[in-house]
Amino acid sequence: MCGIVGYIGDKQAFPILISGLKRLEYRGYDSAGIAIYNKGVNIYKKKGKVSELENHVETKNIEGTIGIGHTRWATHGEPNDLNAHPHISENGHFTVIHNGIIENYDRLRERLKQRGYTFKSQTDTEVLANLIEYIYIKGSLNAEMAVRYALSKVVGAYGIVVIAKDEPDQLIAARKASPLVIGIGENEYYIASDATPIVEYTKSVIYLNNDNVAIIKKGELKLKNIQNDILEPKIQQLDLDIGSIEKNGFEHFMLKEIFEQPESIKDTFRGRISADNSDIKLGGLSEVMPQLINAKRIIIIGCGTSWHAGLVGEYLLEEYARIPVEVEYGSEFRYRNPIINKDDIVIAISQSGETADTLAAINIAKERGATVIGICNVVGASIPRETDAGVYTHAGPEIGVASTKAFTAQVTVLTMIALLLGKERNTLSKKEYQNLIAELARTPERISKILTLDNEFKKIADLYKDATNFLYLGRGFFFPVALEGALKLKEISYIHAEGYPAAEMKHGPIALIDEKMPVVVIATKDHSYDKIVSNIQEIKARKGIVIAIVTEGDTVIRDLADHVLEVPKSDEGVASLLTVVPLQLLSYHIAVMRGCNVDQPRNLAKSVTVE
Ligand code: G6P
Repeated sequence: MCGIVGYIGDKQAFPILISGLKRLEYRGYDSAGIAIYNKGVNIYKKKGKVSELENHVETKNIEGTIGIGHTRWATHGEPNDLNAHPHISENGHFTVIHNGIIENYDRLRERLKQRGYTFKSQTDTEVLANLIEYIYIKGSLNAEMAVRYALSKVVGAYGIVVIAKDEPDQLIAARKASPLVIGIGENEYYIASDATPIVEYTKSVIYLNNDNVAIIKKGELKLKNIQNDILEPKIQQLDLDIGSIEKNGFEHFMLKEIFEQPESIKDTFRGRISADNSDIKLGGLSEVMPQLINAKRIIIIGCGTSWHAGLVGEYLLEEYARIPVEVEYGSEFRYRNPIINKDDIVIAISQSGETADTLAAINIAKERGATVIGICNVVGASIPRETDAGVYTHAGPEIGVASTKAFTAQVTVLTMIALLLGKERNTLSKKEYQNLIAELARTPERISKILTLDNEFKKIADLYKDATNFLYLGRGFFFPVALEGALKLKEISYIHAEGYPAAEMKHGPIALIDEKMPVVVIATKDHSYDKIVSNIQEIKARKGIVIAIVTEGDTVIRDLADHVLEVPKSDEGVASLLTVVPLQLLSYHIAVMRGCNVDQPRNLAKSVTVE
């Protein structure tokens, strides 16, 4: 949430900052701003997208080799020019960009007001800038000391980068619960809230840890904690290539990411499923396998799409490993005093690895003695660092705000865990185990086949793009898919949509059905096929429009439904990976036809690092 970028070196900072902000825009796009040092600090900021900031500064000749930039997802104060970052302290000593939330900002602001400070914006960040300045002047400290001391007074989360007017040859960066990474170039450093703006310049990076403060000069980096202890920076190599963060000819990142799924799923199981599909190995879980095998209960935690993947995981783990599973929203779990036993396993699922509610839930689970496992896409993010063990999804960077390939990668990992535990706990026979592995391994080629039908999804999108409501129904493994289909549509096309277990339709949503209501039903041939056929008949009896996702060659539903979209036949245990794809494409095309900004839907952000 919010993107941060910084540069210090010999190059002109402005183009580096602008292109960095564009790469980070998926994290927030309410406003954008830049500060460049050139004999003084010059600040340019604008409500709206980075392109609007660019237009705003078009005529200005911006020179300078030190600068910071920010793209905002508003928390405190509405999106406008004044609330945009960077924020400068009252007497101009400090210029700050900030991700996260200063929870005690109100109290700090009141105290600063009593000491004569006034505020131009409604942001917590301006409070921080003024606090640093107040401490700097009052304590006659140097800039770095003032930053460290101010941060010790702050409650909340932050990733910040600071320019100090009186010590302009340096940037000061600090983090607590909001990620920052520093790229090391030749006689230069790049700073960003994730590696995407850095990868085109260097692959050598340092990830800041909580309470780290980095004092960065042109050819020198000093790392400390806020107590002033010197720390040894750990340099790592980025495993990210520039092609993976560009659109590569697709109109949108979301479309590219949907089409990447055959490859991304392969990347998820590559090296984990043996070449002859006979076994699964999950190296990241080897140390916790005894606890997993003996688990009395598994609690899965996630938010948004990751929570939906968790629901699929519940069906998989209960079916194949026969372990009771509960699925929780991070935000609910953290505040409801959950009962956790020492032999519970908590699985936290997150694409970004930075979602604040999921992270907080992990901490509670750890405090109460559970073994915590992470399923995460972004390598080196906070969640994999906070968990006892884990599995990376390796789906590659996901830039579209609406999650697609991350979902199928998460479900792939959960399938592998469920099958492996089924084998180890003897709840699956060897034959069943190996058949299911082979089915999972065939998923990529089956998804490729579904993707060739894109024009059909487009035609249906065209017919129903003006609908005001949609209903999505599914049973068993496909109930979470129905939820995910509805979420995709809501997120990017702003059409109201609800996902329901198909049988529950009779307890409410059936009242909504009339000749204007498209109902998307996941109706592949599985053990509840007859039941879902009855549900379709119930919808048709009320004149609803049925768009059914069916198994290739199905003739029964073809006769009943208004439209059928076929997916290849597969075992129902892996079919959620297939049936979600038509739903992703349907919502994508509807959103494009409605003129919506697919990759950056209003009010949303890719990575929600605040509560
Ligand atoms: C935001 C994103 C969703 C994502 C959710 C959880 O709402 O827009 O796409 O599913 O956060 O994010 P995580 O990174 O934890 O999977």
